[in-house]
Amino acid sequence: MRVLGIETSCDETSAAVVERDEDGSGSILSNVILSQINEHAAFGGVVPEIAARAHLSAMDHIVRSALDEAGLGLDSIDGIAATAGPGLTGGLMVGMMTAKAISAARDIPFIGINHLEGHALTARLSDNVAYPYLLLLVSGGHTQILCVRGLGDYERWATTIDDAVGEAFDKTAKLLGLGFPGGPAVEQAARNGNAERFAFPRALQGQDTLNMSFSGLKTAIRREAESLAPLHEEDIADLCASVQLAIADVLADRCSRAMDRFAREAGGGDGSMTLVVAGGVAANSLIRSSLDTVCNDAGWRLVAPPARLCTDNAAMIAWAGLERLERNERSPLDLAVRSRWPLDNEAIALVGSGRRGQKV
Ligand code: KG4
Ligand code: ZN
Repeated sequence: MRVLGIETSCDETSAAVVERDEDGSGSILSNVILSQINEHAAFGGVVPEIAARAHLSAMDHIVRSALDEAGLGLDSIDGIAATAGPGLTGGLMVGMMTAKAISAARDIPFIGINHLEGHALTARLSDNVAYPYLLLLVSGGHTQILCVRGLGDYERWATTIDDAVGEAFDKTAKLLGLGFPGGPAVEQAARNGNAERFAFPRALQGQDTLNMSFSGLKTAIRREAESLAPLHEEDIADLCASVQLAIADVLADRCSRAMDRFAREAGGGDGSMTLVVAGGVAANSLIRSSLDTVCNDAGWRLVAPPARLCTDNAAMIAWAGLERLERNERSPLDLAVRSRWPLDNEAIALVGSGRRGQKV
């Protein structure tokens, strides 16, 4: 099966073609991503109206490029998947309407996909990971630990109770004048910094919860920055390195405790244990290496898909679509977009569990 995917939930316009190989693993035939970063940079966050318009003007060209790069016409496509939520409504509508129009005109099955499921299943596309696995999902709008038992079977074991990790990176960058998106800028600045200089809070550490909290970081950083002002390059580097280490420590601590729970309750039948890290923040190398240490110590396998598949892209949407279409699932052409759409419907909604996009 070969699926065309479309992603427009935030500030990347993306289209991709993926297929499943004979051995069950996935292949990416194309994955075209157009970032709108320049359009939003001056505002320090994603402006929904600008995003929707930019998606609209790029959409046709991006879909055409994805098909061209894959060397395929629509005749060779067996299904079309588009992100139906969560995300910014205007952008979601552009992508979904495009997918529905192609589906109706060419009589190709259509399926609407949860963006978070796209992130959650990326490791199956990139590394052929088998169910069940433990998932750390860390993006600009979400920070969750989920037990992934199977397709559509996700149990949220932990969430941030306030800011998402990506948001913490973005706010740090904004405070220090490093621009948007903040994650890559903070990581870059941290390279020359001393991570031990500032002891930033590791909230909820040692408490009987897997949940996380990151909103205290921005107050702590602001306080340090104000007392140091004017900031020198070295101060900025040290602040970035210290905040990055605080975040990596918290994620490693919560994952290690969630791994204990997974081993007790959900481990793979063959005894194999896998931690998958997904979402834009999974591109961060310190976070990857600290999770790697936790996994090595526990005899677990860590799967971190390549950075290009961690940030928003349509290949992950096409893949989630492929898994669902293979189960003969289809969406009706009047499917509505959903700005909020948690992966685990049973879990209590907390601030960090259903929101995307840094609206300004
Ligand atoms: O998954 P994603 O592309 O979009 C959402 O679904 O939110 O994640 C974007 C987030 C942003 O907050 C960005 O600052 C963060 O991922 N990010 C990073 C890095 N690259 C992107 N955070 C830390 N380190 C990075 N290298
Ligand atoms: Zn995302």
